Amino acid sequence: MTDGTNHGVRPVRGGVHTAQAHDSALRHVTGSAPYVDDLPELPGTLHAAVRLSDKAHARILGMDLAGARTMPGVHAVLTYDDVPGELDIGAILPGDPLLAPDLVEYAGQPVVAVAAETMLAARAAARRVEVFYEPLPAILTPEEALEQGLFVSPSQTMRRGDAAAALNGAPHRLRGELRIGGQDHFYLETHIAYAIPDGDGGYKVHSSTQHPSEVQHQVAKVLGLPMNAVTVECRRMGGAFGGKESQAAHVAAIAALLAHHTRRPVKFRMDRDDDMLMTGKRHDFFVRYDVGFDGEGRILGLEMELAARCGMSLDLSNGVVDRAMFHADNAYFLPHATITGHRCRTNTVSNTAFRGFGGPQGMAAIEHVVDEVARHLGRDALDVRRANLYAAPERDVTHYGMRVEDADILPELFDELERSSDYRERRRAVAAFNAASPVLKKGLAFTPVKFGISFTALHLNQAAALVHVYTDGSVQVNHGGTEMGQGIHTKIAQIVAEEFQIDAARLRVTASVTDKVPNAPPSAASTGTDLNGMAALNAARTIKERLTAFMADHCKVPPEQVAFRDNAVFAGNHALGFAEVAKLAFLNRVPLSATGHYKTPKIHWDPATQSGRPFFYFAYGVAVTEALVDTLTGEYRFPRCDLLHDCSGSINPAIDLGQVEGAFVQGLGWLTAEELWWDGEGRLRTHAPSTYKIPTSRDLPADFRVRLYDARPNREETIHRSKAVGEPPLMLALSGWLALKDAVAALGGHRHPVRLDAPATPERVLLACEAVRRQG
Ligand code: MTE
Ligand code: HPA
Ligand code: MOS
Repeated sequence: MTDGTNHGVRPVRGGVHTAQAHDSALRHVTGSAPYVDDLPELPGTLHAAVRLSDKAHARILGMDLAGARTMPGVHAVLTYDDVPGELDIGAILPGDPLLAPDLVEYAGQPVVAVAAETMLAARAAARRVEVFYEPLPAILTPEEALEQGLFVSPSQTMRRGDAAAALNGAPHRLRGELRIGGQDHFYLETHIAYAIPDGDGGYKVHSSTQHPSEVQHQVAKVLGLPMNAVTVECRRMGGAFGGKESQAAHVAAIAALLAHHTRRPVKFRMDRDDDMLMTGKRHDFFVRYDVGFDGEGRILGLEMELAARCGMSLDLSNGVVDRAMFHADNAYFLPHATITGHRCRTNTVSNTAFRGFGGPQGMAAIEHVVDEVARHLGRDALDVRRANLYAAPERDVTHYGMRVEDADILPELFDELERSSDYRERRRAVAAFNAASPVLKKGLAFTPVKFGISFTALHLNQAAALVHVYTDGSVQVNHGGTEMGQGIHTKIAQIVAEEFQIDAARLRVTASVTDKVPNAPPSAASTGTDLNGMAALNAARTIKERLTAFMADHCKVPPEQVAFRDNAVFAGNHALGFAEVAKLAFLNRVPLSATGHYKTPKIHWDPATQSGRPFFYFAYGVAVTEALVDTLTGEYRFPRCDLLHDCSGSINPAIDLGQVEGAFVQGLGWLTAEELWWDGEGRLRTHAPSTYKIPTSRDLPADFRVRLYDARPNREETIHRSKAVGEPPLMLALSGWLALKDAVAALGGHRHPVRLDAPATPERVLLACEAVRRQG
């Protein structure tokens, strides 16, 4: 039997739980996948550039724009005064002017926007602008802001039990401080937007954004238009990592403002240096802690303060610091804890989302604490970690009142990785190596990850999709998620293919566009597939129900006897190919298009008591990393790393494996190599690959063993019982950082506490070695 389109009845290819290549893999590797900059340029297209502030904090006394305006090819030189609508584009609260009015609050803040016939002409004109400043005192670090009480929003505390009393009664107690550095996203594709006036008073904006609806919202606000006059589209991003969640709107709104004034299409593709100077990064943190514990290393009480450098405005910092506080336990039960988060206001760029969204910083803090506890007691840190793990029934509630319902997966993962990585044997081998090697020292660290999945802002936990079945049996899927390399479109095609029981090759997931799926949340918090996959599934189910009813009627069988299987629909003893069914249904006036919506169940949060269930579920993982350090130079390598990450019923194990590997390496870059360095004037001096070092293929662990843990389907009803994977494995890299610390400690025979701030660059490792040597 055939269905008339050469798709016979045969097993479905490309359904869920199968390893499929990314739908653009071939185009990625051949360089033919179009990004915003590759779109054909319309005649008359102009190019944008911005003049950035070179002062961290200053009053603007005046500007000289005449020189720039008269340069050849220049069409517009605009300031804040030229904004027809609202000047402020703050994502949550005001504080982010599109162009600086009379005050600049960070070095890198855009002051003037230029449109010219070529990009070089625009950049030259931007340089020609003269800005006259009266410098003001600048606050640059979270420590200074803490001291002066400067915050972008009020500090908050999560409490469980009585930490002060527990600390006083504890047999052992340690206090300390730690600094954790920030990170630039270093997406390969810098921020870009292409704004096109439609001639009817509206705009089409192509934007490299995780959040097309936010870009639409901000462009409309800045231009004083209703949202229905602006359409934003994103086919794919060349990486985003959180950097294009809120801040892509800034770039797009500048392009749109220039398009509005010139009545021409305007493309704004940011130079790497400007991108690094102007847009926010991962928050760096300053941490203070006071921990009390017993002789086994079991934590009895913890007080911790997490102070984030938010920069000059709020942006998403409330959520980021919340998430740091939510993850200040990592996988450990804290019977008595007081965790305080500070959102420090500084005269630096407004920091933003970055893979993990504060979680990595909170986890780095507690992992450092647990490591110090183990060192203090002279115990293997793995044993101390095990002693502190969440465990039902008495030790399974977090410091914010959420039960960790599948805590028993932690010891399972620990057992499995301890065995497969040969941890105990290698611990002995490392000790033997160190005893015989005075200069080269080895370190080993085993760290877990427990990461909460859901947006911490309730309303973002929803999604919508639009599915069309065409009369040839091909299917088009639109959903509110965006593709940044993480493979969301591939996974959603698999989900819809599975539902219709047709080959994934018959599906096409289109660009994300605000006129097909409106009011979408950002693709962030690792929830893209969880949310949009469910929405797409619901849309497909609606169509399937209609087709089922139609086929039952048509073939005179009860609906229970209609089944979708093997690229066909079976009804009693009839079998029709999927395309035939689509065609027949259309001829019988059955609608073949549907929307679907999904909202995450069970989650709630009470800000007054700082308690609730902010997460639908947790994703878990464990890592063991070995480090080899030259203690005379601070240079190091990672000879071996073993990762075991829980994706539950992975929708696509090939893509998920790539996510685990990529996240780990990005995390290792954050914790070891990537250093953001501001000078005394608050100017970022590491704003290009010449001075800012991301990991390369040579920095991978020589022996890199990565496995997915698929033994347990998600206990919650997620899409095909899978678990989100985008961010959690980044934090497995904490094992690399702590392996370095372990190697440094070996230099002093593990007798002294070690402070190794992140990033543990070779310089910092060397300084830590020197500090250990001084203690003898
Ligand atoms: N993977 C690639 N290749 N590129 C990216 O920009 N961003 C990460 C992660 N994996 C990113 C990535 C971040 S920060 C998030 S929140 C998730 O992907 C978002 O996608 P998802 O929710 O569909 O997993
Ligand atoms: N994670 C990532 N991005 C976000 C979140 C979050 O929890 N909330 C708002 N944007
Ligand atoms: Mo990811 S930081 O939530 O975009």
